[in-house]
Amino acid sequence: MTSRPILTAPDPRLQAVSTDVEVVDDEIRALVADMADSMYAAEGIGLAAIQIGVPKRVLVIDLDQKEGTRNPRAFINPKITWTSEEMAVYEEGCLSVPEIWDDVERPARIKAEYLDEQGDRQILEADGLLATCLQHEMDHLNGVLFIDHLSRLKRSMAIRKLTKAKKLAAAG
Ligand code: NI
Repeated sequence: MTSRPILTAPDPRLQAVSTDVEVVDDEIRALVADMADSMYAAEGIGLAAIQIGVPKRVLVIDLDQKEGTRNPRAFINPKITWTSEEMAVYEEGCLSVPEIWDDVERPARIKAEYLDEQGDRQILEADGLLATCLQHEMDHLNGVLFIDHLSRLKRSMAIRKLTKAKKLAAAG
């Protein structure tokens, strides 16, 4: 297991549409392990494979991290099959969008299906933070960042801030 660097916006790779996993094998399980390591190293609660540069439809989420207990959950080829009309607003952030947080409105409840690390099909009904987190991470699989849900003005301000931070980092 290896912690890998996380891509940050603006980066064209983050706009890629990821492809379905054909077979859940040891290679995919190793990817899931690397994703979990990378997520914990960056102190995140969710990560999509594209955030470490791998354009496959794989997510890792761990919403109940406590000291010493890690329980990463893998979602492979996840699909939303139902969304509630009721909406919920959470202040979102993203490991690929450092130092920016903003309110995003999404369906409050969803139903989803996915494959687990054994390749078995699972179905799930989620609300609260898990519903928001799954939708945020599934957006990554379609090349969408949470700032893409903001107003045009807020989004362009965010991109300007991210571009400036990158230039400063490159200048050392
Ligand atoms: Ni994100």
